[in-house]
Amino acid sequence: MIKHSRSTSDRDTSRVWLITGAGRGLGLAFAQAAIEAGDRVAGTVRERGGLGALVDSQPDRVLELVADVRCDAEVRAAVEAAVAWGGRLDVVVNNAGYGLVGAIEEVSEAEAEANVSTNLLGPLRVSRAVIPHLRRQGRGHIVQISTSGAVGSMPGLGLYNAGKWGLEGFTEAMAAELEPFGIRVTIAELGGFDTDWGGSSMRFASPKPEYDALRERMFGTAEVPWPAANGPATDGGGEGDEDVAPEADDAAGGDASAAVAASALLAHVGAPDGPLRLLVGDDVAEQVAMALEARRVDYARDPRFSWPTG
Ligand SMILES: NC(=O)c1ccc[n+]([C@@H]2O[C@H](COP(=O)([O-])OP(=O)(O)OC[C@H]3O[C@@H](n4cnc5c(N)ncnc54)[C@H](OP(=O)(O)O)[C@@H]3O)[C@@H](O)[C@H]2O)c1
Repeated sequence: MIKHSRSTSDRDTSRVWLITGAGRGLGLAFAQAAIEAGDRVAGTVRERGGLGALVDSQPDRVLELVADVRCDAEVRAAVEAAVAWGGRLDVVVNNAGYGLVGAIEEVSEAEAEANVSTNLLGPLRVSRAVIPHLRRQGRGHIVQISTSGAVGSMPGLGLYNAGKWGLEGFTEAMAAELEPFGIRVTIAELGGFDTDWGGSSMRFASPKPEYDALRERMFGTAEVPWPAANGPATDGGGEGDEDVAPEADDAAGGDASAAVAASALLAHVGAPDGPLRLLVGDDVAEQVAMALEARRVDYARDPRFSWPTG
């Protein structure tokens, strides 16, 4: 019996992933899950060696690429390197992103630009760079990591909300543009997951005392940066104040592990079809429903408006 070497047979059947921000948190969990499924992963990190453990354990299946998604040239170089390595791209996950705490008045021009350049323009850059390859292939799947905070908003996290709302805006249009080419697009709206998002990754605008009460109400503390046990571990999806306390509670350790999100994403990518907006996490459906209900109530103040029923 001829036994194919693992690398030869895998190259025929395995999928090739490109994941941004693959060095930790959700991105690392996605990469690990894809590897466990027998796939190959090109993952971007910002510091060389950031994917070291995964590369060491699976040198044939993992490619580390250094790219900051705020830089178009770095993104394009990473995409070309991933295609050269993998031979194609099957799944592209726009995962890199971070939160910015600050009332709109508090956020500086530089902080706003950096946040939007990462959370909105980063996925835009990656999408523009991969689309020609996916179009040529006649297949492929782009997954945008979004949040219930792209449906609702949270005072004190408005810039983060803005970036993710923008991400969903262009992605919905892009999905329709790419469908005729056989390219799938998913907006994964995540609830709260236990990562560095609300911890070491969080950025804070310079606080004004006028917003202390807001911070206290929304995050359980007026302190900036917030103490490790505070802040929304979920990322700004709440609509209205009632939602805040549970999120602050989550920060104390109530969030699901990133592996749970990864297994949901793997199942979705492996299925032949699925929704454009994929809800990931136990808490997210309720958060989205609350945000949509708040919007419905607001529109309903116009007597001409009625909520369409199925
Ligand atoms: N955790 C949640 O509850 C939650 C919920 C909904 C959505 N999300 C979204 O999930 C995604 C991943 O976040 P996470 O929870 O895994 O947080 P995380 O643990 O802080 O990981 C964030 C990742 O993004 C990367 N990144 C940040 N800025 C970047 C840039 N300019 N260029 C390239 N990479 C950059 C980081 O790279 P470095 O290691 O180099 O910093 C890191 O790998 C984000 O888009 C976040 O908004 C998270």
